[in-house]
Amino acid sequence: MSLAHDHLSGRDLAPNDLDAFWMPFTANRAFKKNPRMIAGAKDMHYVTPEGRKILDGVAGLWCCNAGHGRKPIVEAIQKQAAELDYSPAFQFGHPKAFQLASRIAALAPADLDHVFFANSGSEAVDTALKIALAYWNVKGQGQKTRLIGRERGYHGVGFGGISVGGIVSNRKFFGSLLAGVDHLPHTYNRAEQAFSRGEPEWGAHLADELERIVTLHDASTVAAVIVEPMAGSTGVLPPPKGYLKRLREICDKHGILLIFDEVISGFGRLGYAFAAERYGVVPDMITFAKAVNSGTVPMGGVIARKGIYDAFMNGPDSVIELFHGYTYSGHPLAAAAGLATLDLYREEQLFERARALEPKWIDAMMSLKGLPNVLDIRAIGLVGAIDLASKPDAVGKRAFEAMDLGFRDHDLMIRITGETIAVTPPLIISEEQIGELVDKLGKIIKAVA
Ligand SMILES: Cc1ncc(COP(=O)(O)O)c(C=O)c1O
Repeated sequence: MSLAHDHLSGRDLAPNDLDAFWMPFTANRAFKKNPRMIAGAKDMHYVTPEGRKILDGVAGLWCCNAGHGRKPIVEAIQKQAAELDYSPAFQFGHPKAFQLASRIAALAPADLDHVFFANSGSEAVDTALKIALAYWNVKGQGQKTRLIGRERGYHGVGFGGISVGGIVSNRKFFGSLLAGVDHLPHTYNRAEQAFSRGEPEWGAHLADELERIVTLHDASTVAAVIVEPMAGSTGVLPPPKGYLKRLREICDKHGILLIFDEVISGFGRLGYAFAAERYGVVPDMITFAKAVNSGTVPMGGVIARKGIYDAFMNGPDSVIELFHGYTYSGHPLAAAAGLATLDLYREEQLFERARALEPKWIDAMMSLKGLPNVLDIRAIGLVGAIDLASKPDAVGKRAFEAMDLGFRDHDLMIRITGETIAVTPPLIISEEQIGELVDKLGKIIKAVA
């Protein structure tokens, strides 16, 4: 077969050249030597190019909550592409974006009534932070500019998100980040919390650190606090009992906005539409993405309380109220997929299903206690994490081997972060498949001992 020739680089391009694609958050060289390729997906499984079925233990990247290749979602996207492929997001609208915003607002608690669309979790976070800053400006308190995040928080990869985020490797290469940011301590303490089922008993007092930070900077300079209700990306850290309520109380006391980043916890992962509902805490904004349309078309967004939206609706009618937005905000394909997905969640009662499965899921995860190198297990909703002891020579190597071996030898997809294995299956998982998943995990953990 003759190879295509690229005249600019002078390179011959092999038919399946892996070189050009600089892969995100991936060990590129290891992958390209020994790829883990996926060619198809249906319901609870991925399919490799050779036709091997892989149990999806992670709902893709915590996004495919309805499972894969679901007919109503696929058909909605196909129909939408034929009917209206794209319409401009600025100064024009299309009906499905409005319908989806209303449906999302109806799922959100209290007066979280207004939805601003973006295309990813990172954009959703940066949008929420910008709305917070602009809100204080339009309220005549433009000196309130400080943003408070949390250690071990993940809020995507935009400059706003990495500034309030608390993952060292995501921050240290990228300069001085946003100015005026501070961080709460993270809430994990193995000595106090190891093998807790759901929310740990210990740790609510860590919310009081917010008082200390606010005292240091003065409330008149603080715009917003942003946290994941359940920190996902640094290894699944469920909030200590009472912690989020205390954060809310302190924010209320000092007139500070509270943002819940629900990019992972939104749309059923913890058994409710939003974690805010599970914890009975109403934030001022919620960010979402991923499972809003079961990961089928990029979409994210911010849900804001009525008072925030209303504060912007001033001045002459023809003036743009918020100078922010994306070409693809509320994209027709993403919106159509979102409407079909929310229908499916409701028809199949998938949030309720996750809630009902939670005790069995936690039992299944905890059954791995006592296996070699298992230091802690956390489980909540349909989320689980296992901390492994590092090999003496390299932190993260044991978990990397577990992920690689899981895919190659045990037909299971898992996610890793540092030395932690995380599992977050689609909400359609059966009890039998939970057994299969945990059985495979046990074999993998023994294999990397
Ligand atoms: C809590 C949280 N916020 C933001 C993001 C970023 O989302 P995206 O990768 O779509 O930009 C993620 C991604 O995992 C996340 O978990």
